[in-house]
Amino acid sequence: MFEHFNTAEEIFRFKLGLALTMEHDSQELLHDMRKAAMRSEVKELFQEHTHETRQQIENLHQCFALLSTEAGRSPSPTTKGLAKELKSLLGKVDSSLADGVVLSGAIETEHYEVAVYETLILQAKARGVAGVAELLNQNLLQEKSMIGKLLAATEAIAREDAAAQADTAASPAPEIEVPPYLPPGSI
Ligand SMILES: [Fe+2]
Repeated sequence: MFEHFNTAEEIFRFKLGLALTMEHDSQELLHDMRKAAMRSEVKELFQEHTHETRQQIENLHQCFALLSTEAGRSPSPTTKGLAKELKSLLGKVDSSLADGVVLSGAIETEHYEVAVYETLILQAKARGVAGVAELLNQNLLQEKSMIGKLLAATEAIAREDAAAQADTAASPAPEIEVPPYLPPGSI
């Protein structure tokens, strides 16, 4: 896209392109997280957000159309870094613990997406492109709603994991046989 930005408008369009790359990266990550998840309810959450992400990508294309600009993808190293971090951790955990890991990775990604949209919406409003702000706001609301669902699932699973760990810890420890006390001089 641009090698050097001379106007705030250029930066705004560059960041809109970043949002587009971010959502495409998110789609790939959601696919991987769905595969790694163990519980069906967690898989369903990722499936639900995959549908939403498809709509969000469509909304971003519409934003570009409203700005009479060709949709372009700007680099998004942050989303690639978040995906790399998640995959690295997933490779180190037992599959029985994968759900907590993918959920936390998803929450971190969604928070980043929220930050990107919040800024873009303010800039769109300031530029007087209300249609763009509205489309971006639709995406923002879906991200925030998904964070709520991911957090609720995380809480339930964290409790299950903690209870399972407590059960393991509560299993009877091997008894140590204490020899009887023998007063000095008794043997
Ligand atoms: Fe998202």
